Amino acid sequence: MEKDVYILAIESSCDETAAAVVKNGRDVCSNVIHSQIALHTEYGGVVPEIASRKHIEKINQVIERALTDAEKELIDMDAVAVTYGPGLVGALLVGVSAAKAISFASGIPLVGVHHIEGHISANYIENKELKPPFICLVVSGGHSHLVMVKDYGEYEIIGRTRDDAAGEAFDKVARAIGLGYPGGPKIDRISREGNPQAIYFPRAKVGNSEYDFSFSGLKSAVLNYLNSCKMKGEEIKTADVAASFQSAVIDVLVEHSMEALKNYSCRTFAIAGGVASNSSLRNAFEKACRREGIDFFHPSPVYCTDNAAMIGTAAYYEYCKGVRHGFDLNAIPNLKLGEKYTGDSFK
Ligand code: KG4
Ligand code: ZN
Repeated sequence: MEKDVYILAIESSCDETAAAVVKNGRDVCSNVIHSQIALHTEYGGVVPEIASRKHIEKINQVIERALTDAEKELIDMDAVAVTYGPGLVGALLVGVSAAKAISFASGIPLVGVHHIEGHISANYIENKELKPPFICLVVSGGHSHLVMVKDYGEYEIIGRTRDDAAGEAFDKVARAIGLGYPGGPKIDRISREGNPQAIYFPRAKVGNSEYDFSFSGLKSAVLNYLNSCKMKGEEIKTADVAASFQSAVIDVLVEHSMEALKNYSCRTFAIAGGVASNSSLRNAFEKACRREGIDFFHPSPVYCTDNAAMIGTAAYYEYCKGVRHGFDLNAIPNLKLGEKYTGDSFK
């Protein structure tokens, strides 16, 4: 029988300080998340400098707690994994420095992980039967990508946003209709009381690229609608605006994803990222996939938003391929999916 592989994973790319222990890639032994949402709420969004400072304050506690919850010690770990991009550079540096320090002091190998690769891999945690190839829609605060997952760690981006990410659109529209930060969950909640057909907002097509997205026009359409209501002295029904906006975003995401599945003759589909926890979006995909006979996978909400368990899962498959990083591993804020660290000690 093969020896179990335990990975201590660290995530600090944005406003969550997180650590987890993951066994054999798919068993989460612990998953500790310290969210900074309350801290950033008064500014209406993430303040990078404040995020970095809070990560520094919390990182050791969160790591210790992850080991304690898993009833493990550092010497039980086979690797220490960390998100090294993309994300806020100051925030990423905290996790990368902590992971390097642990690796240096304990001699445990270091494995750097791409944040989006982590989001995609979150699907493996609760869906033990899911294996590549499949198409994954990654919709988070910073990214909207339609990705062909060819194999573990092998990706082809088949569609991307030309402007705002889906989560960014949720956050901006939420601010405009007075719901505040973080916008996604608030729009999700209030939309349940609204009529998604109350106002027609545009479903953008992007030139000749059938899988790309554009959400900035939709955001402007919502702002124009709000201004015109104010000018005419008409009442703004917040729940209707939220539901109508949300349904425009979902329509486009579903349409493009189903088109890609058809054209790539792919029968397996997954969603990932913070926006993937949206209840209407999950229902819409559930329905569309059932209609087309596609196997549909999604992580639980806690594994959709930023967490370290997903980083441990992604790291496991890299670790098994022999990927190890050296102490020259650095934070790369604009790291592209599929791009690997090319430092001297990359193996
Ligand atoms: O994946 P994530 O935690 O961080 C990034 O990597 O960006 O995603 C955060 C984004 C935010 O824009 C947030 O508003 C959005 O995910 N989000 C949601 C929901 N929960 C979080 N959007 C729509 N509906 C939700 N329930
Ligand atoms: Zn994320």
